[in-house]
Amino acid sequence: MALGPASAALQPLDLASYGPVIPVIVIERVEHAVPMARALLDGGVRVLEVTLRTSVALAAIEAIARAVPEAIVGAGTLRSAADARAAHAAGARFAVSPGYGAAVAAACRELALPLLPGVATASEVMQAADDGFRFLKFFPASAAGGVAMLKAWASPFADVAFCPTGGIAIDTAPAWLALPNVKVVGGSWLTPAEALKAEDWPRITRLAAEASALRPA
Ligand code: 3PG
Repeated sequence: MALGPASAALQPLDLASYGPVIPVIVIERVEHAVPMARALLDGGVRVLEVTLRTSVALAAIEAIARAVPEAIVGAGTLRSAADARAAHAAGARFAVSPGYGAAVAAACRELALPLLPGVATASEVMQAADDGFRFLKFFPASAAGGVAMLKAWASPFADVAFCPTGGIAIDTAPAWLALPNVKVVGGSWLTPAEALKAEDWPRITRLAAEASALRPA
C-alpha cells in the first residue's frame, strides 16, 4: 500500500496491511527512538506502536514522526482523553488502548485519530462494535482465552476483526495469523529491553525481518 501524507485518512484496518506484526514498544531513552525505528524499517516493519508507559514515549513518537516519515508511528496504552490529545499532538498517526473506554474513544473520534481499542470479553466487543469500532485489539490475548477465544468469537462477531496482543511470540504468532478474524498480531518481542539498552540495532532488524516473514500456520 502506498504511504500517503501524514494527514491522509488512515483507517484502523489499514494498519494490518503493512505486515503481520505490529511491534509494541516500551522505550526508555529518547535517543533510541530514531535508530530503533530505522532498525525496524530495515527489517520490513513500518507500523510502530510506542506505548505511553515511559516518560519519554511522547518525545520518542515526535522524533520518529519527524525523522522517519516512512514509518507509521502510533501511540499505545492510551488510558484517557488527555493521553489521546497528547499522542495526537506528538504526531501519532494511530492510537491503541489496552481496554475499551468511552472517553478515549470519543477523544480519538474528535481528533480523527484512528483507534484500535482493546477488548477481552464479548460484552466489550459488543460495546466497541456498537460505537462503530470493527477492528479491535484482543488483550491480553494469551491470558484472556488464547486462540480458542477468537475462534469462538468468529461466528457471533463475524463483522469484527482483531489484533491479538499479549503473550504472543514468533513461534505462536502463526497460529493466530491463521484465524480468519485476525489481520495482524502485536508483540513486544521485536524490541527487547536488553537490545534497546545495548543499542543492538542489527538484532532488532533481524527480529523485525523474521516477524515480517511470518505466515499463517
Ligand atoms: C501490550 O501492551 O500489548 C503487551 O504488553 C504486549 O504484550 P507482550 O509483551 O506479551 O508482547
